[in-house]
Formats: sequence, C-alpha cells, structure tokens
Amino acid sequence: MTKVISVMGKDGVGKSTTTINLGVAFGRKGKKVIVVDASPLGDTATCLLPLSIKLEGKIKDMVLYESTEQNVKIIDSIDFERLIRPFDSLDLYFGLIGLLEYFNFENYDYIIIDTPSEGYAKSSVFLAADTLIVPVESSSSLRTLPGVFSKIEKRKNVKEDADTYHMKRIGGVDNTFILLTSFDSTTQTGKHILKVIGRYGKTVLDTKIPMDVSFKESATFDETIFSYNPNCKGAEAYMALADELISKLEIEN
Ligand SMILES: Nc1ncnc2c1ncn2[C@@H]1O[C@H](COP(=O)(O)OP(=O)(O)OP(=O)(O)O)[C@@H](O)[C@H]1O
Ligand SMILES: [Mg+2]
Repeated sequence: MTKVISVMGKDGVGKSTTTINLGVAFGRKGKKVIVVDASPLGDTATCLLPLSIKLEGKIKDMVLYESTEQNVKIIDSIDFERLIRPFDSLDLYFGLIGLLEYFNFENYDYIIIDTPSEGYAKSSVFLAADTLIVPVESSSSLRTLPGVFSKIEKRKNVKEDADTYHMKRIGGVDNTFILLTSFDSTTQTGKHILKVIGRYGKTVLDTKIPMDVSFKESATFDETIFSYNPNCKGAEAYMALADELISKLEIEN
C-alpha cells in the first residue's frame, strides 16, 4: 500500500535535505516515488527538476514532472499551492488527498512531502499523511517534540471523524519517526541529544544522518547528495534510512 510521508518540523532542521535525498534513495532501491514540494521556498523541486523544464517554464496542466532521477516524479511548490487552493473552503483533509487521487497515487510506493513549518499547506499535509518524519538537529528542535506529539494526538480525533464520512483511501495506521540529522556524537550537542532522545523510545530511527559538508555543497549547486558525492557518508546514511523505513513500513503494515 502506498505510504504518504510528511517530513515536518521547525525551520532549518533538514526537512528539504531529507525529502530530496530520502526520495532519491527510495527511487534507487527500485521504489516508485512522488516527491511533493509543499515548502514555500521551492528548493526541493529546484534541485530535482531537469534543466530543460527549469528553462522552458511550466507546461500548462502538466504538473507531475519527471525528475533527474529514475523512479522519482515531482510536484513542485507552485503547482502544489495552485492545486490545493480550491480545497480551502472544504475539509482540509481533502487538499492533499484530492491532489494525490488526481495522479493515481496508488500506483506509487512512496509519496514524500517537504512540509512547510506553518500555514494552510502544512495542515493539509499533516492531516492526510500516514507517516511523519520529524528531523531533529539541535537542542532547540528537541524542545519542540512534546508540542509535536500533542498535535499528533489531537490529529487522531480529526482523522477519525474525517474517515467516518469520507473515502478511506488514506489513513490507516499512523507512524511517527524522529530522525537525528546533522548528527555528530563527538559534540556536546550530539551527546545531549542522544541522552534526551532516549525517552522517545522506538519512535527514534536507528539511522542517524551525520553532519556532512557535502549537503551544503550539493544544495549550492542544486544537486542531490547522490549526484554530487555518491560515496560520502551522508549519501550512505540516506540509503540506510531508506532500508530502515522500507523494513519498518512494509513489513509492519
Ligand atoms: N546532515 C547534514 N549535515 C550538514 N549540513 C546539513 C545536513 N542536513 C542539512 N544540512 C544543511 O542545513 C541547512 C538546512 O537544511 P534544509 O534546507 O534541508 O532544512 P529545512 O528544514 O528544509 O529548512 P527550511 O525550514 O528553511 O525550509 C542547509 O544548508 C542544508 O544544506
Ligand atoms: Mg526547506
């Protein structure tokens, strides 16, 4: 069954980096993927769109783009905004679901969404996703976790209501994962995070994304970590993350 993953969290924690590189890692493992750029900056789509599309502009009504990577298609942030706006006055739950149904999302294994930290688009993604990945890279992002988990609790009621009178296409079992990013166990911050994160138990993914300068460099050139430096430890970590999620999401559910 298709998994709809929202990568969500506060600003600057590695949401776009995770969406792009996890999407590509899934694709390289043979999974069919749609990457949705719901972020206001649009940096996820910019990184994955082929140069021809960047130069020629948007082809009207064709919003599911081929990306530079095999198995990975992309919906960019302008199209995302345009497509979900009509749902504004309806149940937010319909926003993303309507969009995904339009593209026959059940033909894909993973929909992975770069989710904005605020606003209508965030609510729409938050309600429709069945899997949440919350990157944590600093003590301040660690402190937001209790708030995130209480929102997830509240969301369960909203989703139950929505499920009773809408199609039950998305919903099902919810998974929430904390992902340590820009992680360095030798620093005081890294040590502190490891100590505190223990209280979240199995929610914390075993794979940790290490601090790696290649991420900033690849972003500078609008590249993925795999096209920029496929053998760096950051690239290896995202491949390992894809493996871990595949085993957790495809075996348990
Ligand atoms: N593992 C890492 N090691 C080093 N730098 C990283 C790592 N992951 C991300 N970065 C860098 O940290 C910065 C923030 O990452 P990113 O843009 O992915 O965060 P974001 O949550 O999408 O931010 P925003 O909220 O502004 O959209 C970027 O410059 C990125 O290249
Ligand atoms: Mg971003």
